[in-house]
Amino acid sequence: MKRIVSGITPSGDASLHIGNYLGAVKQFKNLAKDNDCFLFVADLHALTTVQNKEQLEKNIETLTLNELALLGDLRNITFFRQSDVREHTELSVILSNYTPLGLIKRAHAYKDKLQKDTAEDEINMGLFNYPVLMAADILMYKPDFVPVGKDQKQHVEITRDIAERFNRAYRTNIFKLPEPFIPENVATVLGTDGKRKMSKSLGNVISIFEDEEVVRKQVMGCYTDPTRMHANDPGHVEGNMVFTYLDFFGEPKKVEELKSLYKEGKIADVEVKNYLFESLMNYFADARKRYQELKNNPDEVKRILKDGAEKARSVASQTLVEVRSLIGLNNKYSF
Ligand code: TRP
Repeated sequence: MKRIVSGITPSGDASLHIGNYLGAVKQFKNLAKDNDCFLFVADLHALTTVQNKEQLEKNIETLTLNELALLGDLRNITFFRQSDVREHTELSVILSNYTPLGLIKRAHAYKDKLQKDTAEDEINMGLFNYPVLMAADILMYKPDFVPVGKDQKQHVEITRDIAERFNRAYRTNIFKLPEPFIPENVATVLGTDGKRKMSKSLGNVISIFEDEEVVRKQVMGCYTDPTRMHANDPGHVEGNMVFTYLDFFGEPKKVEELKSLYKEGKIADVEVKNYLFESLMNYFADARKRYQELKNNPDEVKRILKDGAEKARSVASQTLVEVRSLIGLNNKYSF
């Protein structure tokens, strides 16, 4: 089995929508079938932007419950919270010594912030160090692959760079150089407006765990075919978001049937939307049930996180033993 590490930051409002599912969670579930996976809630990374106690607590809870509900079976997956495994911060501090300033200054996260709204002097060190903490998150577990979105590819490259520098400094190969894993055919799913990437802040999402009535409303608001005035006008299927989503969530034969009827002007938008709504409820039925169960059972969630942290720590502490000894922090007075 290959080893895989990935993290998800509980920023924004941290609730997952079908765009997150199709863009990341689905792939991860697939990878978990035959790989040894470490997946964590990157709560320390969220501190770079979420500096409100209640908000952060809520985000961590939401993301944890959403992920656990969607993942279901945790066989092959060590799921934990980044801040529960203190070794991440320790390794981050150590690695920062092998990280040239220039490397970090070229990082997107930092450069974007500079360009947007913030003066250099105002940027917090957490944001600046973001790639170093991420390098620690990754190198800690010596993974083969790091599944990330395109926007995170540079961070994995920086991680490789830091690993190489460390290895070179101590003539060792303790850190394996990880490869970014960016599945080619992953859909960047457009939002219900049919124009922009699905994103909560744009209000163009279809939620996974909201009440049925909320999801129904989101489905009814989908962009369809603006050239079609009446239900008996021939309709277009391409660029029609209802059909775009149905391609993922509907039953293929039924979807083909509906497409034909739609193109012939024999079926109304609302009927296709009703079918999308039903399909989503069906597709996510197990996850929605698990979400409620977990939400009503905090002790169970705590047990899962504790178990995950312990498993992660057994690997992480071993890496730190090796690193500390390599760099000279251990000597005859160590205990
Ligand atoms: N920076 C990643 C993101 O925003 C989250 C992350 C933190 C991560 N640590 C990681 C991803 C380690 C992969 C590996 O999406």
